[in-house]
Amino acid sequence: MTMKIGNIEIKTPIFLAPMSGYTNQPFRRLCKQFGAGVVYTEFTNAIGIIRENDKTLRTLSFTEEERPIGIQIFGNDADNLARSALYIQENFSPDFIDINFGCPSPKVTKKGGGSAILKDVNKVRKIIEKVVHVVDLPVTVKMRSGWDHDSIVYRDVAMAVEFAGVRAVTLHPRTTKQMFKGKANWDHIAEIKEQLSIPVIGNGDIHCADDIHKMFEQTGCDGVMIGRAAIRKPWIFSEYLASLGKMEWKLSTREEIFAIIQQHIEYAKEHLGDRVGGRALRPHIIHYLKGFPGASDFRRKISKLQNASEIAKFFQDVSNFLENRDK
Ligand SMILES: Cc1cc2nc3c(=O)[nH]c(=O)nc-3n(C[C@H](O)[C@H](O)[C@H](O)COP(=O)(O)O)c2cc1C
Repeated sequence: MTMKIGNIEIKTPIFLAPMSGYTNQPFRRLCKQFGAGVVYTEFTNAIGIIRENDKTLRTLSFTEEERPIGIQIFGNDADNLARSALYIQENFSPDFIDINFGCPSPKVTKKGGGSAILKDVNKVRKIIEKVVHVVDLPVTVKMRSGWDHDSIVYRDVAMAVEFAGVRAVTLHPRTTKQMFKGKANWDHIAEIKEQLSIPVIGNGDIHCADDIHKMFEQTGCDGVMIGRAAIRKPWIFSEYLASLGKMEWKLSTREEIFAIIQQHIEYAKEHLGDRVGGRALRPHIIHYLKGFPGASDFRRKISKLQNASEIAKFFQDVSNFLENRDK
C-alpha cells in the first residue's frame, strides 16, 4: 500500500503526527527507525520564521534520513504564512509544507491561528491560495472537524482546500471545543474520503496496530496518522509493519524497553546536546515510565535532572535496581 503527496511517493502511509514539545529531531529519528513512513516537525509560528528567530529555525532542521518530512506552520495571516512557506522552501527544502488548522490551544486560537481559522472558510481559502501560489512544494493541511458542535465545517473546508490546490488533507475529527475529550468521529474521515480526489490521512485515537487496520477499513483513508500512542510507544510503527508480515517485531521485556529509552537519550545528546537534549527528553521519559512500578517516584527524581547524561545514568541505575530486585 502506497500513497503520494504531490509527486512524493510514500511507501508506508503511516504518519507520525506533528506534536509540539515532542516531535523534535531525536524523536523523529527514533520513530523513523521503527518504520514511521512520514514525520513532521513540531508546528512553527510563521512570524518566527520570517523574523529568522534562531530558536525557531533550529527546530526546522532535519537530516536526509528523516525524509519524507513535512514542516508544519501556523499563523493567522495569509501573507505571513506564504512568506514563511517560501522561506522554508528556499532554506530547508522539506518534502511538503503543512498548514495547521487544528491546534485548539487558546495561546494560538486567541490570535486567530490554528483551528480558529476554521470559523472562516473564506479565510482558509485565501490562505491556501496564497501559499500554493508562492511555493512549488506540495502544500497539505491538518485540521479538526470544526470549532464546536454548532459549527462543523470539515466538509466545506476539505472541498475549499482541495479546490485551492492542497495536495493532501489530514483530519482529526474532533472539534476545537472538544480538545481531546470524547471520541474522534471516524465517520467524518470516511465522508471526506468520499468527497475528495486528493489523499486523506485519518487521525485520532489510534492506540495499537489493530486500530490502524480498523481506521483504513472503516474510513477508506489513504494514510493513518498516530499522535499520542507514538509518544507512549514509538515502536507502534513496527507493530503495524509486523502485523502486515513485513518484519519480525516483538517487544517482550523491560530490558528491551529500557534499551529503546537509552537509544532515544543518545539521539537527544547527538542532535540537541547534553543540556537542551535533557530538557527535550523529560516529557518523553515521563510517558515511557507510565505503568512502571514506582513511576511516580522516578518522575520526581527525573524532574530534578538537568541534562541527558544524567538521565541516561539514572535509567541505568533504575535498570540495575530492577534487575537485582527480580533476581
Ligand atoms: C502534546 C501534543 C502536541 C501536539 N502538537 C501539535 C502540533 O504541533 N501540530 C498539530 O497539527 N497537532 C498537534 N497535536 C495534535 C496531534 O497531531 C493529533 O492530531 C492528536 O493528538 C490526535 O491524534 P492521536 O489521537 O493519535 O493522539 C498535538 C497533540 C499533542 C498530544
